[in-house]
Amino acid sequence: MTTVQSGPRIAPGPKGAPLIGSLSSWRRSPAEFLLGLQRDHGEIVRMRLGPMTVYQVTEVEAVNRVLVQNHANYVRGPLYELFDVIMGKGLLTTDGEFRLAHRRAVQPVFLRNAVPAIMPNLVAAAETLFDEWERKAAAGEPVDLMGDMLKLTLVTLSGSLFAYDAGPFTEELKEAVDDVVAVMFRSGVPSELLPSWVPTERNRKIKRIHRVFDRLVTEVRETYARTGEGPLIDLMERATDPATGRPWTDQQIKDEIVTIYVAGHETTSVALCWTLLSIAEHPHVQEELDAELADVLGGATPTAKDAESLTYTGMVIDESLRLHPPIWSYPRAAVEADVLGGYDIEAGASILLSPLASHHNPRWWANPMAFDPQRFTPEAVRERPRLAYLPFGAGPRQCVGNLMALLELRVIVAMINQRFRLSRIPGAPLGYGSPVISLRPVNDIRVVPKPRPKPAAPAQPAADAPPASCPFGGGDA
Ligand code: HEM
Repeated sequence: MTTVQSGPRIAPGPKGAPLIGSLSSWRRSPAEFLLGLQRDHGEIVRMRLGPMTVYQVTEVEAVNRVLVQNHANYVRGPLYELFDVIMGKGLLTTDGEFRLAHRRAVQPVFLRNAVPAIMPNLVAAAETLFDEWERKAAAGEPVDLMGDMLKLTLVTLSGSLFAYDAGPFTEELKEAVDDVVAVMFRSGVPSELLPSWVPTERNRKIKRIHRVFDRLVTEVRETYARTGEGPLIDLMERATDPATGRPWTDQQIKDEIVTIYVAGHETTSVALCWTLLSIAEHPHVQEELDAELADVLGGATPTAKDAESLTYTGMVIDESLRLHPPIWSYPRAAVEADVLGGYDIEAGASILLSPLASHHNPRWWANPMAFDPQRFTPEAVRERPRLAYLPFGAGPRQCVGNLMALLELRVIVAMINQRFRLSRIPGAPLGYGSPVISLRPVNDIRVVPKPRPKPAAPAQPAADAPPASCPFGGGDA
């Protein structure tokens, strides 16, 4: 007799240990753990992490249901609550009408027609850094790639969105953002259960971070009060609550400033770091990139309009975001029970969207560990379902800063490769540090930037004004 199975089923997954479930495997190496779940159990995997039931979802229809089709059923939930300790109630941590109103308020500076405005700050910050690299190269000194990319994106974000020059305070700010990663996630030691007034190491760090961010917010707002400049702070200072018509409170402004600094700075630097390392390790990619840069730019500094024509550079960046997605995993919580990929999802369960696992799914990516920009030719992209690739998320909560990040990436990758050849000083094998928010390379990536002879610039460099068809500028906002 054959049994006919009908209706939803319980998704497969690791058995885990009593009480803690798979928590110890997760803690040992979260990235390995998530990849292993997909390899061993499939595209919808059920697991227990301590008291929580969690589903990793990489099946494309199910990803679409969570992020797009039935998104209202999937809210931030308990895993995102860990972010509140630093970001309060900002875009990343809230749901519903409150978030929608805030998203609408800040969105204008991130639209296609507005993003090229970051160019003057971006190019100036890059040139300052690369002049320093040339001095270091002449002195035979290596550079700290991750540290320098963090500074570069921080200065660009500060200058272009807030018209704020953090000066020497940049270093402290960069350290505070680094510490955010350490405190937002609990490591399970009993002292983490103590109240916030007990001076544990974590609580001291949280206080220090808030001190630094309080200073940042005060200085950003004072600068705006003095100059009236800074497109994003201008929107925040003039934003009103649609329900009451009242201006945003000081706390709302603080939370959104901090959210933008935390969400927008480390992610982009991690992407830059992996992209540059991947180029350095693949000479044929380097050659093709050089040919495109010579062809399109001929030695001139890229403009936002030029960035549109750097198609191979874009493919290299897309492939880097596939192989090493900076936001490697992010959670949701199911409000009501649902069915994903034919499996039952109970109300209250946590869902993990996992760009890292999705981007290594052999169903869509042959030889997924290999770095191959040809995966992003227009023909290859057309052949895959859209949600096999989700470095910036999807649906109404898709990353608000994606166009800004992609422009930064194209311009910086181009400028670095025009001026330098990077080679990594051999050390520990490349790998992931302890990924918590973003997928950083293991600490201390030292590279030697070898200056390249300068090619002649074309007689008439292109103007910076983007045409209507430019993906980073013009038209369709
Ligand atoms: C390579 C760089 C970046 C990557 C990989 C990235 C990735 C992501 C992802 C995956 C999400 C969605 C998370 C979710 O759905 O739970 C997100 C949201 C967000 N990102 Fe980015 N991001 C990057 C750069 C930026 C930049 C430059 C900014 C701002 C300056 C930014 C600000 C935000 C904000 C505010 C959200 C929350 C949006 C909302 O919920 O409405 N990100 N980002």
